[in-house]
Amino acid sequence: MLVIINPTHEQTSIQAARIVANQIRSKPRSVLGLSTGKTPLGLYGELIRCHREEGLDFSGVTTFNLDEYVGIPRDHPQSFYLQIHRNFLDQINIKQENTHIPDGSSSDIEATCIEYEQAIRDSGGIDLQILGIGRTGHIGFNEPTSSLASRTRLKTLSDETIQDNRKIGEDIPAVAITMGIGSILDARQLLMLASGNSKTTAVAKAIEGPITSSVSASALQLHPNVTVLLDEAAAAGLTHRGYYDRVVEQTSKYSPERLGLE
Ligand code: PGA
Repeated sequence: MLVIINPTHEQTSIQAARIVANQIRSKPRSVLGLSTGKTPLGLYGELIRCHREEGLDFSGVTTFNLDEYVGIPRDHPQSFYLQIHRNFLDQINIKQENTHIPDGSSSDIEATCIEYEQAIRDSGGIDLQILGIGRTGHIGFNEPTSSLASRTRLKTLSDETIQDNRKIGEDIPAVAITMGIGSILDARQLLMLASGNSKTTAVAKAIEGPITSSVSASALQLHPNVTVLLDEAAAAGLTHRGYYDRVVEQTSKYSPERLGLE
């Protein structure tokens, strides 16, 4: 696991965007896994800038979103469908037919989940999966005690997640469709971003704690190609900080592309 700590989240977003842009340039038909929430907004903003100012071409790219609330229509202000379209997909030259978001308004959720897994397989699998982490240590909506082998399915949200995702005065659904931890681990590369002190404990447990279904993100330790990008606040609970910085220094010499440098 490559752990990169930047002074600010803005720098993290720019570095993450370079890593994603390199992936697209080296494989124009890349399959990306997308995440919603606040954390990747700067990354998407930077990718939009790369598209507008540097011609980064998304015309061959396919995307799969990690999760979606159940029981609200796609045009509901809280739907992840609307969020990812507004914040990213509608601002790049991706083909809409190549974008995939679980259908939380489906009348047959189980069939929808099975079809979603099949669509990922049919695309050739995800090359690079973007992830955030919840206060509970969740990735996607894989709340604590989710099976580390789980696939796309219906998941009940934890109290913490409901609190964190609710905007003042609004309710959010109690359940969601989420790719499973097993589905996420199938991606060829994982890029997890975290920012701020509300994530400090979850990040430390995920990176340095035992692998446990109580902290879904700890499953990333099982994956051979993970990059974690943190700001100082999110990294504050890590005990091997000096080592991570040395690894980054050596990586810049031997595999600069992993840092988004080439
Ligand atoms: P956030 O959500 O980026 O809005 O903090 C992250 C997550 O819940 O995975």
